[in-house]
Amino acid sequence: KTVHCLNGPNLNLLGSREPEIYGAQTLAAIESRLAATCAERGVTLRFRQSNHEGDLISWVQDAGLAGEPIILNAGALTHTSIGLHDAIKGAKAKVVEVHLSNVHAREEFRRHSYIAPVAEGVISGFGVLSYTLALDALIALTTVSER
Ligand code: DQA
Repeated sequence: KTVHCLNGPNLNLLGSREPEIYGAQTLAAIESRLAATCAERGVTLRFRQSNHEGDLISWVQDAGLAGEPIILNAGALTHTSIGLHDAIKGAKAKVVEVHLSNVHAREEFRRHSYIAPVAEGVISGFGVLSYTLALDALIALTTVSER
């Protein structure tokens, strides 16, 4: 089984970018922590980041065609991208929206998400833990058949 973790704009700068909001861990550190949890769960991780909306749309399409679930931190595209919304809506893949920060405790413009209405659910505000919580949510969703 493969799980995708897709990361949007500016997340390549984690560690040095506003550490008081996003923490001191780099994206590489988040990847290795998530990869370790995936290994424990017997899941293969495909982890990617791009600053370009089109890359994320293509990756969502590809995961959808493969029927593989996605942990998605779309960064600021969360609040702007109808293109990503449409890609998720059309994809046969479960998506969990994640954020390091609690987007509801910040600026007003972060409170609206184009991803949330087409995601299974949202995990926001738990730092690096948001990613592993999303992984366990996806595993539970794909093994519990009632949902
Ligand atoms: C973020 C929250 C977004 O509002 C912001 O634009 C980001 C990071 C988070 O992980 O907390 O780039 O997605």
